[in-house]
Formats: sequence, C-alpha cells, structure tokens
Amino acid sequence: MRGEEDGFETRAIHAGQSPDEATGAVVTPIYTASTFAQEEVGVHRGYEYSRTGNPTRTALERCLASLEGAAAGFAFASGMAAEDAVLRLLPAGSHVVIPDDAYGGTYRLVSQVFGPAGLQFTAADLTDRAAIEEAWRPETRLLWVESPTNPVLSIVDIAAAARFARERGARCVVDNTFATPYLQRPIELGADIVVHSTTKYLGGHSDVVGGFVGVADVGLAAHIGYLQNAVGAVPGPFDCYLVLRGLKTLALRMERHCTNAAAIVEMLERHPAVGHVRYPGSPTHPGHEVAARQMSGFGGMVSFTAAGGEDAALRIVASTRLFTLAESLGAVESLIEHPARMTHASVADSKLAVDPSLIRLSVGLETAADLVADLRQALDYV
Ligand SMILES: Cc1ncc(COP(=O)(O)O)c(C=O)c1O
Repeated sequence: MRGEEDGFETRAIHAGQSPDEATGAVVTPIYTASTFAQEEVGVHRGYEYSRTGNPTRTALERCLASLEGAAAGFAFASGMAAEDAVLRLLPAGSHVVIPDDAYGGTYRLVSQVFGPAGLQFTAADLTDRAAIEEAWRPETRLLWVESPTNPVLSIVDIAAAARFARERGARCVVDNTFATPYLQRPIELGADIVVHSTTKYLGGHSDVVGGFVGVADVGLAAHIGYLQNAVGAVPGPFDCYLVLRGLKTLALRMERHCTNAAAIVEMLERHPAVGHVRYPGSPTHPGHEVAARQMSGFGGMVSFTAAGGEDAALRIVASTRLFTLAESLGAVESLIEHPARMTHASVADSKLAVDPSLIRLSVGLETAADLVADLRQALDYV
C-alpha cells in the first residue's frame, strides 16, 4: 500500500492494492471464496469467512477510506444498506435531523423503517442555521447532511453543520454521493461519517450496486464494522472489484463530468423553454459561494424546471436521443429523469415532495457538443 502523502489519483490506483502476494497480479484478484483455511483453530491469515472479511472487499475499503481521508471504511451491498448501518448506531429514543430535500430513499428509510421502530426525526432546511436550531432537540444524536442534495442540488455548509452537531454532543454524517471524494471530502471538513451510494460515480459505469461508510475515528470504526458483520449487508467480491476499478478513473471522469455539465448549464440558462436552472457552479445558485469553498468542482448533476410545467417536463424527458430516460446517475452515459414521478415518487405526499416541473440530468462523458445539441432539440420541440 502506498503512503497517505501520495496524491489523490495515485491513491485511487494504488491504495489498498499491492500486487497479489501469491502471483504478482497487479490487479486485485476477485476472491470468490466464502471461507478460508485455518492452520489451527483461530490461526489464519486475517480471513475466516467472507461476510466478516474478504480480500477484494478489503482492497476497496482501504482505497476508498484513503480517498475520503477516513480512519476506516466499510463496503455495503447498496447505498441504502450503508445508510441503514449508520442509523443503527443510534440508541433507542434518539432523534435525527435530516434535510428537507434529502434523497427520497433516505427519507423513506428514516420515516418508514426506523420511524416505526422508535426513531424520531425532523426534516429541516439545512441551508438555514435558524431552521436547524428550531429542529434540534435535547435527544438529537445525528445531523444527516447531503450536499449537493438529490435532486435540487442544495448546498449545505459542511464545516458549519459538523461544528453545530459537535457542539451539541451529536454526530454529523454526510452523504457524499453527488460530489465524490474527488470534489469534496466531508471528514476533512469536520464530519464524523461519510456515506456513499457507490452505484453512482464511484462505480461509474452503471453496472454495479453498492454502498460505503467511512468514519473519522476508530471507535466508530469498531461499531460500524460490528454492524457490517452482524447484519451482513455486504457486497460480493465481483461487485467490490467493479467499484475498485471505477475508482481508478474517478478523477479523470469527474473532471469531464464537470466541464460537460457546465456546457449544458450555459445552454439551459438561455433557453426559453427552461424555467430556472439549479447548478452549484452558477453564480446565481444560492449555495454557490459555499460550494466554491468546500468543493473543488461543481459536479455532473444539473436540475432545471420546464417553463411549461409538468406536461412540458414529461415531453422533454421523452424527447432526447443521447440522454437516456432512466433512474440512477453518475455513470459514463448521460441520463435524464423526472424526479417527482421516478426517483422521488416515495416522497410524493410529504414535506419533501418535488416540483413536478423539475427535470434532473446526470451529465455523462459523451462529446459535450452532442449532449448540448440533444437537449436543445428536446427543448425546442416543446
Ligand atoms: C444521494 C443518494 N444517496 C443514497 C442513495 C441510495 O443508494 P443505492 O441506490 O445504491 O442504494 C442514492 C440513490 O440514488 C442517492 O442518490
């Protein structure tokens, strides 16, 4: 394993991934074994059973922990499984503050799965300190931050949120799925925990579902590690390999996601069929200054409203050629979707309901001019 002083790209390719000791293979092997031989009872080479630990998974966990600046990392079967593990840290009777524009699945997990089991929660505008103060209770144990948020791309000041939670004896977790550690590192900004859907930019090729939890201290590491093994929502070795492979090109891909998204935003901001554009890189975005401070680029996600309302939005998402109408995000191919009826249908009747004229783009790595032309013809059509 290379040193922590190496640069991001170097660590993405080498951290946790020494050449295989048995064969010299330069790519981490996919260890499909479910169990490992022991020389005597309890004497083994660090692996006993693959739910507890698997060498391919260890490589992924070490690499991603290094990229996030985390003390330790844990891979999960999905982003939701990773979130589930974090919420299980909370003692009975706890209260959590979540964003009022959180990813719909996060809201569903908190409200429909943990809620009936006794977890209290308040959804608040985390861009407004007064709103966080109002939501806070003596039993609040966790401040759940997402930045940028899915799908409206709000920006939360992570350093301020982490400080706020710490001063009140609570922890701060950041869902870093949209930014990735290449653009933003929450633990360096003071957060206790970072979570990911590795399904998105980290995997990067729409061919794997996975999740990750990175922690700032060893106490939390012991607790999450215990839950990972005890609950067992672990990814298989092939899935770990796919995410590990994705990480190697993360830096290059994120650079191009950012420039392609900026080209699209420029066109959208001038098109008459567009209501308003949400992109943290736009100087008009209310979180632009904070984003410029805590991110090294503004990412590949862009949202905008159709000036003609929901009907126009539905026609636009069905009229593109290169942008595929599909859920998910963060991969090489560009995707377009209608959050109110697709990814965020689970929050339809809640405070988190999404504007039905909103369209979300995951800007991929195709030729920027082709993407701009494709979207422009769909907008011209309506
Ligand atoms: C911001 C965010 N967090 C978490 C998740 C859940 O991840 P997964 O679908 O891998 O379970 C998603 C999925 O879209 C997401 O967008």
